[in-house]
Amino acid sequence: MDRRGFIKTCTAVAAASLASPSFFLSSLKAQELELKPYKKAVLLKKDGTPLKPEDIDPAKQYIFFYPYRSTPCVLANLGKEVPPTEVKLSNGTSYTWQGGVGPRKSIVAYCAICPHQLSYPTPEFSFINYYPENIPSKIVKKGGIIQCCAHLSVFDPSQGGRVIDGPAPFPLTAIVLSYEDGKLYAVGTLGKELYEDFFDAFKPDLRERYGSSRKAKQLVDKCEVIEVNEYAKEVIRC
Ligand code: FES
Repeated sequence: MDRRGFIKTCTAVAAASLASPSFFLSSLKAQELELKPYKKAVLLKKDGTPLKPEDIDPAKQYIFFYPYRSTPCVLANLGKEVPPTEVKLSNGTSYTWQGGVGPRKSIVAYCAICPHQLSYPTPEFSFINYYPENIPSKIVKKGGIIQCCAHLSVFDPSQGGRVIDGPAPFPLTAIVLSYEDGKLYAVGTLGKELYEDFFDAFKPDLRERYGSSRKAKQLVDKCEVIEVNEYAKEVIRC
């Protein structure tokens, strides 16, 4: 990363650090952990045709934006059936995550905003990434995980985004997918959301990138899916 990029990284994480993780956890309410429906949005390839499960290479990481046009998500094909699971939080509450979707029930998606200090992929760099089995993390020495290199939080995408390691106080927000007539859709979220904190923390960046806060908060009904290295100039892996 060049110096300018590094300074932008520090600024982004420093701005977000005003939000306290312990506050997030203690303020969790039961209804915040239930499925929250948003606009149903079809996942598309770059050419505008529907993304099919077989288009999602298990050796790659993909990004799309949902439920708002500015809120990034990780899409991954874990290459194996991923059953539903109970996601337990450290405050004693829990919720059921639906598992993978698609013909092999192997496709999952998560909000790519880190629950620790809101690090997220930007066009300059992506600190929070999916590590396919063929690109293992240097820190935990395995693939099949999502890791945030800002402060080394590690998440399990096969278990509802639960925290495996690091300072993140709760799991990644799951993006609820559906598979209908050969097409993939995003239909809502599950788990603690951080969208309002994200919009507050990065207001100037989002205004610059999308033209206004209102435009950054537009809900989408279709999502272009691309590889993360087509979106971010630098994909930071650790
Ligand atoms: S922002 Fe700290 S681990 Fe992600």
